[in-house]
Formats: sequence, structure tokens, C-alpha cells
Amino acid sequence: MEPKRVATQPFTDQRPGTSGLRKRVRVFEQPNYLENFVQAIFDTQKGLAGGVLVVGGDGRYYNRTATQTILRMAAANRVAKVLVGRGGILSTPAASCVIRKYRTGGGIVLSASHNPGGPDADFGIKFNVAAGGPAPESVTEAIYARTREIGAYFTVDSPEIDLDRLGTSTLGGMTVEVIDPVADYADLMASLFDFPAIHQLFNSGLFRMRFDAMHAVTGPYAIEILENRIGAEPGTVINGEPLEDFGGGHPDPNLAHAQELVAMTQGTDGLDFAAASDGDGDRNMILGKNFFVTPSDSLAVLAANAHQAPGYKDGIVGVARSMPTSQAADRVAEQLGIECYETPTGWKFFGNLLDAGRITLCGEESFGTGSDHVREKDGLWAVLFWLNLLAARKQSVKDIVHEHWRRFGRNFYTRHDYEGVDAKAAADLVDHLRILLPELPGKRLGAYQVEYADDFAYVDPVDGSRSDRQGVRIGFEGGSRVVFRLSGTGTEGATLRVYIEAYESDPVKHDQDPQTALQPLILIARELAQIEARLGRAEPDVIT
Ligand code: G1P
Ligand code: ZN
Repeated sequence: MEPKRVATQPFTDQRPGTSGLRKRVRVFEQPNYLENFVQAIFDTQKGLAGGVLVVGGDGRYYNRTATQTILRMAAANRVAKVLVGRGGILSTPAASCVIRKYRTGGGIVLSASHNPGGPDADFGIKFNVAAGGPAPESVTEAIYARTREIGAYFTVDSPEIDLDRLGTSTLGGMTVEVIDPVADYADLMASLFDFPAIHQLFNSGLFRMRFDAMHAVTGPYAIEILENRIGAEPGTVINGEPLEDFGGGHPDPNLAHAQELVAMTQGTDGLDFAAASDGDGDRNMILGKNFFVTPSDSLAVLAANAHQAPGYKDGIVGVARSMPTSQAADRVAEQLGIECYETPTGWKFFGNLLDAGRITLCGEESFGTGSDHVREKDGLWAVLFWLNLLAARKQSVKDIVHEHWRRFGRNFYTRHDYEGVDAKAAADLVDHLRILLPELPGKRLGAYQVEYADDFAYVDPVDGSRSDRQGVRIGFEGGSRVVFRLSGTGTEGATLRVYIEAYESDPVKHDQDPQTALQPLILIARELAQIEARLGRAEPDVIT
């Protein structure tokens, strides 16, 4: 079967964002759109020819079609072997696990994460490198540059590969192995966490939990791990059947989009523990009875307690958090005497630190937590880590977090999103803030004294690469901050994210509602950025 050369024309809008190329399905369905991007990956990642490639996605609408296209193109581009998850499925962390475990040349991950799915919703594609993580900017920029000048792509004429049967077949000289998407990942989790201790917790009769898979990819993973391997009662996993449109929902595990689950934790009869994951399985939300753990706090708590889980029993070497993530983890790192790195938003910036052995745990405020076990954030991993902690400490979620705050102080935290606003107005708003920056240090805003104000720039300590303009930060004396940045994952208009944080050492004040505790800073942020005047929005669309 000879490769076929198909002439094509470049598209101008194929620059990957925070996490790969994300567009409406309709955009991907244009003739040659997906093919151009995939060919740009093969054209720039020469090592893939003759090597092994992993392919899989979150199962959303268009996942199967795209998988077939990629398999044919991989064969035409002389890839030796593709490992593809059954049904074209691999959660994002499972893809990372498989890429690493079988020492492959990398993977193509099909996902638009927590964005809605379906013919009128979103799709996405990204390339992960051999270490298992999202390609660094140098690679995504090279892929993008290639999409701007591409003239042809290569494919083979072949019938569809049967993706639903495990086993090996060939496609134009290339081996295709359909693998169980869950097994390798489940084995990895069993090696990190104390499954027998969690089993005892489940069996104690005193502990009730639910995991909400939001009709997205983690259903089969959670059922296998929590119910089949650890022995949680059947029905522990809810919304466990993956659907191409996620049942019409928004598979983003946060207080706004997982309300059904949140309600189950409330009241005297509330669940002891509840958790959810997103469309592709890399995000997590952790809830206790009447209690929500912010992702920033979750990272800090896991860092402080990591030794309780077998996979981390020797302690951690360092932590990293994205810049807008609260500084709660910094305080833990300080006490442990380990390094805490502050990176730009996006998991790809953790890759070098993990590869270099400088950090063990990392996380983002956007419901992403992970470790050196893979090179993606990992939703179920975080859930299992919490279960391991609950089993080991025999305390409630709330008690563990409150104790943590008493020891380290509390970083009150919230993120306000203004979604789907006019892109030009949003860009102007950020530019206006940039102009204000030099005048701010030393100024008083309400009760707060500005200590520093800058546009965050990051120099990677491992390879020296530099990333500029990663978000406007205004830091106040005492550790409070407001941060402004535009989303890099949206597919329509622009989204302004405002991150607000205040530090409180006094335990008497730890019980406040974050929106109340942060109200003065919220108002300062709105006024300084002229949000209502510039965006025509008095209130944010989503508060997390
Ligand atoms: C968002 C989150 C970011 C995360 C990314 C991918 O990106 O803020 O932390 O890494 O999704 O899950 P943003 O839309 O802010 O660019
Ligand atoms: Zn995701």
C-alpha cells in the first residue's frame, strides 16, 4: 500500500494554545484541516518515522473519525507501530502513562478537555513528547510554523481499522495494536497508593463517597479502579458511561458545573467524600462533607502529607505551581526545606522540572494536580491520593484542611472568569493594565500597599527558554495578590480570568467564606482593570 500525496493549502489559525489546538468540531471537519495539523506534526517530529506512536482521546464526538485519519497518516508517514486505546479512547493521563511505559516516541492526544462535546461543540488535538508530556513551546511553535507553509499531506487508502477489538493488525506496513485503555494506568495507580487501606476505609461502614465521571472518559477508569480493584460498592461511580456529547453537560469539575455532586455532600446526611474529573480525565475536584477543597489548597495538603502514600513515602524533592495558583504550596515547601517553582499557566511548563528531577508534585488552580508518575495532570490520581490520606489519617476532609491551615495559615483564593467577551476589548484591558504597572509599586489601593507589579516572565531553570507576557501580577504587602490573564484555551471570543488571593495566619478567621474574605481585593481588581466599563460585565460568569 503506497502512501498517497494529497495537495493542500495552509490554514492560518493552527497555532496551539495553552493545551494543543482547540476548535469547534465544524472547524476540524473542514477538508484537510485535521490532516494539515497532523502532517505538520510528522513533518517536524522526524523521529516518529520508524518509531512507536500512541493515539487516543477522550471519546468526544469526532474522536473516532480523527483516530482513523491519524492511523492512515501515520502509516503513510512510515510510523512503525501505533498503540491505540480500544475505541480510540485514552484519558490524557493514561495516554501519558502508556507513552512512558512503552518507551514510545510520543503520542497524539485527542481532547478538548473540559469543553463541551458534540457536533456543535469543541474538539482538540495535541502532541505529547516521548517523556509523556505536552510538547514544549519550541515544538508547538515549530508545528505551527509548518502549518503556515504546508503544501501536501500523506495518507493511505485503506478500510477502517476495527478499534473495538483488542489485538494487532497491520495497516500499510505499520502495526496497529489496540490496547486496553485502562489496564496500564490502573496498574500504575496500584503501585502508588495503598489500595488495601482504602479498601478498609470503604468497608468500615462509616464512609460514603461518590465519584462523578460526568459522562466523560474517566467512567471506565474509575469503575475499574474504585469498584473492581479496591472494592467500593457498585454505584460509587456516577455518570460513568462515556458519551460523545457528555450527555449535553459541561464536563468541568467545579462548583458551577458539578452541582449535582456538590449537593450530595451537603447537609447532615452529606457524603463524606466526593470527587469528579473532567472530559479527558486530567482535572479533579475534591469535596468533603459540606466542604470544598480549592485546588491550590489540595496541592499544598498533598505536598505536606505526601509521605503517607506508598509511592511518595520517601518524601518529595520539590513542588511547582502555575503562577496564578495560590501560594499555599510555597509555605509547605518552605517548611519542608524544598524548592517551590512558579511557572506560567499550562502543564507543559512542569515537564522540564519533572524530567530533571527537581520536583515531585505540581499543580494548577484550575483543578489540575499531578506528580512525576506521568507528565500530565491526573484527576483520578488526585482522588486516590486523597482517599489514601483519609485512610491513613482517619480524619475528615474538613479536619485535614483546617489542621493544615492552622499549621501553615490559609491562602483565601478565588478565580473570577468573564467568558465570551469581545476579544479586542479584553486585549485592550490587559494592555491598559500593562501601562499602569510601572506606577503601581509603593501605591496604596484601599487598605493594601502594592509591593510589586509586573507582567510575569518565566525563564525555565532547566533549558533557559524564556516565556514572556504570562499574566499581569499585582502583589501586596502581606502576601495578597491579584492576577489578570486571558485564557488560551477558549474557542469563541476571549475569556478574562482574574485570580484573587489573600493570606490569613489567624485561625479564628479561617472559617470565612472566601468571597467575603476577598471582597475588598475583588473590588480593587475590578476597578483597576475597569472591567465593567471595558467589557460591559458587572459580574463574572463563573466563580471558582
Ligand atoms: C486553562 C487553565 C490552565 C490549564 C488549561 C488546560 O487554561 O487555566 O491552568 O492548564 O486550561 O487544562 P486557560 O484557558 O486559562 O489558558
Ligand atoms: Zn482536561
